[in-house]
Amino acid sequence: MEESLISSCVIGQGQQPVQPCSIVLFGASGDLTRRKLMPALFHLFQAGQLPDPFRIIGVARRPYTDDSWREELRAAVQKHGRPPGPSDQEWERFAARIFYCRGDLDEPETYRLLAGRLQEAESDELRHNILFYLATRPSQFAEVVEHLHRQGLVQSRPDKGWQRIVVEKPFGHDLASARALNETLARFVSEEQLFRIDHYLGKETVQNIMMFRFSNAAFERLWNRDAIEQIQITVSETAGVGDRAGYYEEAGALRDMLQNHLLQVLALVTMEPPVSLEAESIRDEKVKLLRSVRRYTPDQAARHVVRGQYTAGQVDGRAVPAYREEPRVRPDSCVETYVAARLFLDNWRWSGVPIYLRTGKRLARTVSEVRIQFRPTPHVLFAAQCSPTPAPNAVTLRLQPREGISLRFNGKVPGLDLRARPVRMHFDYNAEFGAYTPEAYERLLRDALAGDATLFLRRDEIEAAWAIADCLRAGWEDRPLTDSEFYPAGSWGPPAADTMIAAMGHTWHEPLWIP
Ligand code: BG6
Repeated sequence: MEESLISSCVIGQGQQPVQPCSIVLFGASGDLTRRKLMPALFHLFQAGQLPDPFRIIGVARRPYTDDSWREELRAAVQKHGRPPGPSDQEWERFAARIFYCRGDLDEPETYRLLAGRLQEAESDELRHNILFYLATRPSQFAEVVEHLHRQGLVQSRPDKGWQRIVVEKPFGHDLASARALNETLARFVSEEQLFRIDHYLGKETVQNIMMFRFSNAAFERLWNRDAIEQIQITVSETAGVGDRAGYYEEAGALRDMLQNHLLQVLALVTMEPPVSLEAESIRDEKVKLLRSVRRYTPDQAARHVVRGQYTAGQVDGRAVPAYREEPRVRPDSCVETYVAARLFLDNWRWSGVPIYLRTGKRLARTVSEVRIQFRPTPHVLFAAQCSPTPAPNAVTLRLQPREGISLRFNGKVPGLDLRARPVRMHFDYNAEFGAYTPEAYERLLRDALAGDATLFLRRDEIEAAWAIADCLRAGWEDRPLTDSEFYPAGSWGPPAADTMIAAMGHTWHEPLWIP
């Protein structure tokens, strides 16, 4: 794209300068800190996006010192960050701002120590502007915030500086527990201080959904039930449950992926245009959309929602075990590693359009995409002479990998006879903009530091999403898995999902393969 054609605008306030502040990471010795948070903070530092000065304080139980934690973090940034990794000089400057505070999260003493470390800082801004990041076990979220409040580290109306709390997922287990957590947190902090994460919202391609829909008249006018026949949202992974069985056995695919990532993508693809790019306008529209999702009775859920669980199979040419054989999984577990649902939005724009969502582990490929299928043209002209009948148009938003957008339309096959064939136009992020796009966590951390809540979930939004998840689950709860709900690892899911989609004459579209 020509540089001169790039128009710049700001969604929310994310581009505002960030004030000097301290970042406190609870769960400092955990996987998320190592794999995502620290690499993201380091890349923000490299890009000059962290405030000057800043401090990072990690809190966890392991017996690190400042120096031993820094060493471990360097290895983590080298391994999980973007190559080539930090130079010695860069790392020294970054590491000088990192500190460790050892303690149990349920002990008041830990928070006294933390307060002491915050007080050591060289300026009032570093002492009172604080981003607390809860990368802990979900059962500890409320407890940590209560302790912070008691210690005077967080106030809902701070007299000095600002304090914000980033809460990782899962936020609750169902609607009742999410509400209870919201209520507890609301006793100590205001809604404006809470930043509930869904890392999918930090992905460039997910942010591009709004840009694509609302800045392109050619598509904006067609984005409704008159032109669109069905939508399919697929988020598939080849990975299995790995070493997260402890968590996954309680969660399953519906809670782990559909309740959050897929419903967020759905909301962005189908919501009404917001009145502005302010956080509240966008979040208002998403909530409105989520509330329009038809609530199924358990019987309806049993027809429109399918779960599955992987059995042993082959993934990327490698034999992999069944879910029930994975370490720490119960041998008779009925936890779903796959879920597919047909949803309807009972609103003016989408009335009657089926929207299919599916996600699973140990599927054939790792890919996330949204496929919008348009209605066919009337079959009066070519149908008689072209066989097969020309295919309907489709737009595919390729969220990852090979990020981009593809448009499928029909072309005449050159020759004397009349034959149509679907052809495709591809837009490719890498080819167009170069390979660098910031990791989701970079964007989200930067926004939280700037106080921009656009890409975080509001209280009513997370509750609306849980209300949907709860009613989708009702179709199978307390029922053992049946044969048609199992799928071999490396396939595209269980036979039950094919039967479900076929009920409306549709089939799953295999995600686009772009070599
Ligand atoms: C997480 C889920 O939220 O998202 C994981 O807990 C899943 O189970 C992951 O693997 C997928 O994220 P991404 O960014 O790799 O698509």
